Amino acid sequence: MHSGLNVLVTGGAGFIGSNLADELIRQGARVMIIDNFSTGSRHNLDEINGPFDFIEGDINDDAALLKAIDGVEVVFHEAALPSVPRSVENPTETHVACVDGTFNLLVKAKENGVRRFVYAASSSAYGDQPILPKVETMQPDPLSPYAVAKLTGEFYCRAFNNVYGLETFALRYFNVFGPRQNPSSTYSGVISRFIDALMKGTTPVIYGDGEQSRDFTYIANVVDANIRAAQATEGLGRTLNVANGDQITLNRLLDVLKQITDKPEVEAEHLPARTGDVKHSQADNRLAVELLGYQELVGLEEGLRRTIDWWKTSRFARQ
Ligand SMILES: NC(=O)c1ccc[n+]([C@@H]2O[C@H](COP(=O)([O-])OP(=O)(O)OC[C@H]3O[C@@H](n4cnc5c(N)ncnc54)[C@H](O)[C@@H]3O)[C@@H](O)[C@H]2O)c1
Repeated sequence: MHSGLNVLVTGGAGFIGSNLADELIRQGARVMIIDNFSTGSRHNLDEINGPFDFIEGDINDDAALLKAIDGVEVVFHEAALPSVPRSVENPTETHVACVDGTFNLLVKAKENGVRRFVYAASSSAYGDQPILPKVETMQPDPLSPYAVAKLTGEFYCRAFNNVYGLETFALRYFNVFGPRQNPSSTYSGVISRFIDALMKGTTPVIYGDGEQSRDFTYIANVVDANIRAAQATEGLGRTLNVANGDQITLNRLLDVLKQITDKPEVEAEHLPARTGDVKHSQADNRLAVELLGYQELVGLEEGLRRTIDWWKTSRFARQ
């Protein structure tokens, strides 16, 4: 990342966006953030080390967006309502934030001279296909309104790359975890909820039998993939999986966390499986390795330890 590069991070008050902003600032970029705090927080902004500009606003609000995008070369689009169950309960708000928002951002990026657009896509695009690992050439099969909305954004990115020459990458994140992920709602990522429960001495909740599996990726790896995608010369317009190709069940994950936190006695409460959730998820990451030089920087166990360390100093430890 060359020093002084003007970048925009949408959703920069969120978990992934604020971590990405941190690393971009560390590498010398001039960072602008736009966020409407729908799921993000000022606490995340406060934890960002170094200077950045911030506009509180919605990516569907043209006035706010035009201010944010002025002079920007690279957009990292993280803003979304990132939850399957939330989208099942309220598909309209998910559609507006994810589909309309991404489309509006692409239009403004094209009209305002943005060169590169890196989009946070989602592994939910694959749905429940029995074949593992999931590879980008598979036919998408989105099961929830959220998955459809995120996939629509991918298609728009590709079209804008092909038709207007706006250079895009869509990075299909699998399950990302790490510091600043908010554990406080039932919509939250499962690792953040497990850690919060274990540390507070409450009962961790598993939806279903816990034998569902996920390919968890520590945040530093996802941040690195984004920065690589901002600089890559091969593969423009493509969609790439971003994950490590490992699979762990939620039961096993909880066991690992119980071991790290030294709480062997804890038992999970099992609630009914959630509509729209997929059973198994595991990535084939060879395309990202080939095109971005992606490699795992921080593994699962080390990532879990870092996340627990962060939790201890976070506001969640004081609630
Ligand atoms: N966390 C994961 O495991 C995961 C997996 C796959 C894809 N993703 C994608 O990564 C991105 C970041 O997710 P996250 O986990 O950091 O979630 P997050 O909820 O922490 O961050 C999303 C941010 O976007 C902001 N936002 C939402 N709608 C907005 C709008 N209309 N205008 C401006 N800001 C808006 C929110 O306030 C929030 O700060 C999302 O696009 C999500 O779909 C995340």
